[in-house]
Amino acid sequence: TRGVHPDFMAKEIEQQPEVVAEVMTTWGPSVAGDLWPSFGLQVPRHLTIVGCGTSLHAGRAVAQVTARLGGIPYSAIEASEVATTTTVPGSLAVVLSQSGETADVLRAVDVLHQRGHPILALTNNPHSALARQAQAVMLCQAGPEIGVAATKTFTAQVIGGTAMGLSLLAAARLVDRSAVRRRVAELSGVPDLLAYAIGAARRSVPDLVPALLDSPGFVFLGRGSSRVFADEGALKLKELTYRWAESHAAGELKHGPLALIETGTPVVVLDDGSERLAANIAEVRARGARVISVGPEQATIPARTSTTALARGLDWLGPLETVVGLQVLARELAVALGRDVDKPRNLAKSVTVE
Ligand code: M6R
Repeated sequence: TRGVHPDFMAKEIEQQPEVVAEVMTTWGPSVAGDLWPSFGLQVPRHLTIVGCGTSLHAGRAVAQVTARLGGIPYSAIEASEVATTTTVPGSLAVVLSQSGETADVLRAVDVLHQRGHPILALTNNPHSALARQAQAVMLCQAGPEIGVAATKTFTAQVIGGTAMGLSLLAAARLVDRSAVRRRVAELSGVPDLLAYAIGAARRSVPDLVPALLDSPGFVFLGRGSSRVFADEGALKLKELTYRWAESHAAGELKHGPLALIETGTPVVVLDDGSERLAANIAEVRARGARVISVGPEQATIPARTSTTALARGLDWLGPLETVVGLQVLARELAVALGRDVDKPRNLAKSVTVE
């Protein structure tokens, strides 16, 4: 049941700190030791990340962490594009799907098997077709998600996938075990970080909504490790509000998207504090954009306090906590527009047709 919450999405946003805590309780103790060996897979030199929608975003976030910390290269492919995309021979396919029943994903699994790729599934459903067909399974431990928009399963996939990635780096001796244990200890701070971000978003977002009700379209900007979270925020916004939302690397603005900006255009910026991004923000401001920054304490939607050692220690993970503010923004705007946030039009929770 949704209990005291107005809708399942609100409940599932709220559950994220406890879900992440559960993921870490389940997998944390084995990350530096038995986790990778338990998969029975060889240590790969390359990862092929496969999924759709939010699951693909989670996969990208995870692959970026393993690349950043241990240098394992990767490609990320939409499941529906696997059949028409060349894959790196010998690569381990990491296939992410909340439901484990997405038709595009299952078709990709067939193709990947034909090409000889072993498959490690990251799913929320141990009984799914994906779990049955994969060589190894890592569960994301998020519990049932009712809202069509993925929220808690996204954070669970990112944290569970990061645990999996760290276990690979330990097994491959790309990061030594004591350093892996330190990273795991840092991850145990994520629930607090998310709880802070949820509270801050609940305080800051309602005041923003009235001015956005008539905005036909939104631009989301990120760079580096924040880019994938900007993509996820834009997906959530379009899915729930039925408004256009484009996500771009901030540096791409001048190569096209800048032409979209006019007085009042909302531009949601994942602020990483860099000078380059500040220059991009100045560019859109000069054209009249309504800038909504997400991230630091002084942002429009604050997501972390700069003073906590916790937030500093987790920089290697990328700004996962910003996604919470973007989920709240999409939901609150959708509710104000009278949308059914648990069941957006035209979409299904589990997409079983290709
Ligand atoms: O069950 P899956 O993770 O395979 O589903 C993939 C996408 O259909 C899903 O993430 C979709 O993008 C969400 N509704 C987004 O909120």
